[in-house]
Amino acid sequence: MKIVFSPPALPETGVLVVGVTQDRKLTPSAREMDKRMKGGLSRAIKGSRFKGRMDQSLTLLGPAGTKLEVLYVAGLGKAADVDALRMQAVGGRIYAALGGSGRAAAAVAVDAVDGCTMSPAQMAADLAFGARLRSYRFDKYRTKEKKEDKPALRTLKILCQGPARARTAFATRDKVADGVFFTRDLVSEPPNVLYPETMAQRAKSLTKLGVKVEILGARQMQRLGMGALLGVAQGSDREPRLVVMRWQGVTGKAGKKAKAPVAFVGKGVTFDTGGISLKPSAGMEDMKWDMSGAGTVIGLMKALAGRKARVDAVGIIGLVENMPSGTAQRPSDIVTSMSGQTIEVLNTDAEGRLVLADALWYCNDRFKPRFIIDLATLTGAIIVALGHEKAGLFSNDDRLAERIAAAGEKVGEAVWRMPLGAAYDKLLRSEAADMQNISGGRGAGSITAAQFLQRFVDKTPWAHLDIAGMAWSKKSLPTVPKGGTAFGVRLLDRLVADNYEDR
Ligand code: BES
Ligand code: MN
Ligand code: ZN
Repeated sequence: MKIVFSPPALPETGVLVVGVTQDRKLTPSAREMDKRMKGGLSRAIKGSRFKGRMDQSLTLLGPAGTKLEVLYVAGLGKAADVDALRMQAVGGRIYAALGGSGRAAAAVAVDAVDGCTMSPAQMAADLAFGARLRSYRFDKYRTKEKKEDKPALRTLKILCQGPARARTAFATRDKVADGVFFTRDLVSEPPNVLYPETMAQRAKSLTKLGVKVEILGARQMQRLGMGALLGVAQGSDREPRLVVMRWQGVTGKAGKKAKAPVAFVGKGVTFDTGGISLKPSAGMEDMKWDMSGAGTVIGLMKALAGRKARVDAVGIIGLVENMPSGTAQRPSDIVTSMSGQTIEVLNTDAEGRLVLADALWYCNDRFKPRFIIDLATLTGAIIVALGHEKAGLFSNDDRLAERIAAAGEKVGEAVWRMPLGAAYDKLLRSEAADMQNISGGRGAGSITAAQFLQRFVDKTPWAHLDIAGMAWSKKSLPTVPKGGTAFGVRLLDRLVADNYEDR
């Protein structure tokens, strides 16, 4: 979908969207349309339940007194509550309403709203961002879908004061959307197409944006002593990969001394059968998106590079397939991680932490980063605790945790801090090795998983996001169509933008 910004002149024909705030307060464009319709818009609103709440809309077909095909009235909610997130949601809802209506173009009039601090240009940029985010669709394998069943909306024209400023503000957001779409594509691909080698290739494609991409194979990982990651991979015919992506938005710039980079690490289990600790078959198909953490790290690197963020960032992803086979690791195997710590693998389905153990250690050891944030669809237990509303946040650093929570709040990707502590760490003690990969008991599954990870980050400020409940959505939200969500791309992009970029 093409998004264009133009000065505010209401069109005579086609599809037009205007806004109404809470308590049926018409925006200037809505008022203008009401005038052209000889009060027809006010009458239509009066006779309906439409109050201008942000979840409400009204569709007028061929409104009398105009040559329009459709006048779509979008509720904006309370004027004082209009902010960036609200405008994104409005944009998403507009796309959802019009994208599949069969029309190829639509115009949206964005006006200044009394009692709201955003300029029309800012509002327009966020509305456009929301519309674009909602327009995502993964349909490359649907060969029989009829053209008339596919979304037809090709051009969204946004009418506002200061279109040039809106265009500039949108350009940055558009790059973030590119990252989000890239991640959603990865998460949506089936595991026969997307496996460690092919996923690494997709990451490699970021080279054209200026990202340095290194790909390590099994041999190199053996030499590094990554026994934990390799133990998971050994049951699969697909060779594992470790991908290192580097965006250097500071280093190399004139007069800039390189600071320690920020680092992101992702779990990339391209399919998780559970291994010998085999999962039940019902719902196992969900485990195609067990690479979402890694997918988010790739999309984040794409967003940072796309918008030329003034930061040095490292993205590292551990890519493996967890399969049962004659070569698979067994419950009770003991592996030696790159850190030298030994791990008794009591459950081969607790594989994500084994992959991350070596990826985290490698990241810390090689890059000495300012902080490490890892993302992983790590535990079913986090879904029991937080459902599909918030991701679990675990951290050894209060400031980092607060910044992550604040960024999540701003972009609408919520996180909830969970505890860590010695009492939980104890639950990982093993009789046979330095630790076991699951706790002895049944409780606190997400916390003990995080404790396990913490053993591989030393004293470096670190945060772990358990995104098992957030990576895939069974229902559509205003800016997230159902399917792969790319949770974390927007959040971490914002975290970097607000706290870690050179001015
Ligand atoms: N990938 C799963 C976690 C998961 C579950 C993600 C549901 C998304 C939806 C992970 O590898 C796993 O299997 N975890 C086990 C850990 C257990 C064996 C300690 C779990 O959560 O059951
Ligand atoms: Mn598992
Ligand atoms: Zn898993």
